Amino acid sequence: MDIFQEIYRDIDESSIIQEEKRYLMNTYGRLPVVLLRGNGLYVEDVKGRRYLDFISGIGVNNIGHCNPELVEHVRKQLETLIHVSNLYYTIPQVKLAKKLAHLSGLDKAFFSNSGAEANEGAIKLARRYGKKMGIGEGEIITMEGGFHGRTLATIAATPKVEYQKGFEPLPGGFKYVPFNDIDKLMESISSKTTGIMLEPIQGEGGIHVADREYLKGVRDICDDRGILLIFDEVQCGIGRTGKMFAYQHYNLKPDILTLAKALGGGIPIGATLAKEEVAKAFSPGSHGSTFGGNPLACVSAYITLSIVEDLLTHVEEIGTYFMKRLMELKDNYPFIRDVRGVGLMIGMELSFQGRDVVKRILEKGFLINCTAERVLRFLPPLIIEREHIDALVDALEEVFSEIEK
Ligand SMILES: Cc1ncc(COP(=O)(O)O)c(C=O)c1O
Repeated sequence: MDIFQEIYRDIDESSIIQEEKRYLMNTYGRLPVVLLRGNGLYVEDVKGRRYLDFISGIGVNNIGHCNPELVEHVRKQLETLIHVSNLYYTIPQVKLAKKLAHLSGLDKAFFSNSGAEANEGAIKLARRYGKKMGIGEGEIITMEGGFHGRTLATIAATPKVEYQKGFEPLPGGFKYVPFNDIDKLMESISSKTTGIMLEPIQGEGGIHVADREYLKGVRDICDDRGILLIFDEVQCGIGRTGKMFAYQHYNLKPDILTLAKALGGGIPIGATLAKEEVAKAFSPGSHGSTFGGNPLACVSAYITLSIVEDLLTHVEEIGTYFMKRLMELKDNYPFIRDVRGVGLMIGMELSFQGRDVVKRILEKGFLINCTAERVLRFLPPLIIEREHIDALVDALEEVFSEIEK
């Protein structure tokens, strides 16, 4: 038997679920589904049930599952070169950095493997720049409702007790303020402040969009005080909102930008981008990663970005349609408190916990997710069409009509 067959032997649902409990650390509350394959907007489980994917691996599969162009080129790269160390130059890494500079208006990239790592890189870079330039004492102000990852520094940057509890002592140097509140932000800035880090659209926090005036105000404060503005676009970047990066809706630019999730089309990669002057704070040996920027991940990201570039207009159009359909539901069901978002990053806030709705929708053949307890989160692949949205809205309608709240 070949080794691949060995992996896919005995794939019955209950034994995989049992063995998961036996062999994996208990960190995820998973839904009782074992997914086997994906194609475009659909995934299929081991029982042959098909699901229309409205969560995209939490904002990863922006170009759909197993996009044929991606598969073809990644396969070519697999046969060419998978990994070498950053001790050497590799072509895809340089070409990807150049493409990201062109797309973002920033200058330089550092590659890592995840969103948390991209943020670690941003925090380190900001602090190092601050030390070099005499800006603050390394303190980074972050936002309530924000989420930046699960490493120690990024949980310290994420003001949510559940994520921090039991992991103390946490790295210091973070201060939290309410999101979208420019006065509170102003009050909190001191001689210690080196940077401000935020998601232009908070994802895990329940899809909260930064106000236009607010974000402009934050940019102005950073300019006035000479402190760094860091945008975490791990979730809202890569075409999700109808622009390549969410900040491009606001006509301004951060000093440091972090990306991951959809960047690699499913292959893990994170990126920390920065303006030239800030990027200069790193020098050989000051930061690094074994896998970061490896040829396979960089080819995957390059292809993904090229495909996403062609989807941006579609995202704007289809996002407007999706929002309209969800608003119609809101008009009919008073327990829907709010529908908000940009492009294909949409949240529907309920007046009760959304966990059961997610389960019932799953049974109807749709993958959605609930975040911040009450917010149904929709992050479909950017290739979604009206008919798929209509199908989800019909399913939601069926579930909602059975709920008495
Ligand atoms: C805005 C944001 N930043 C950072 C992260 C962490 O990314 P990762 O899970 O790849 O470490 C996430 C993940 O959900 C995120 O949404």
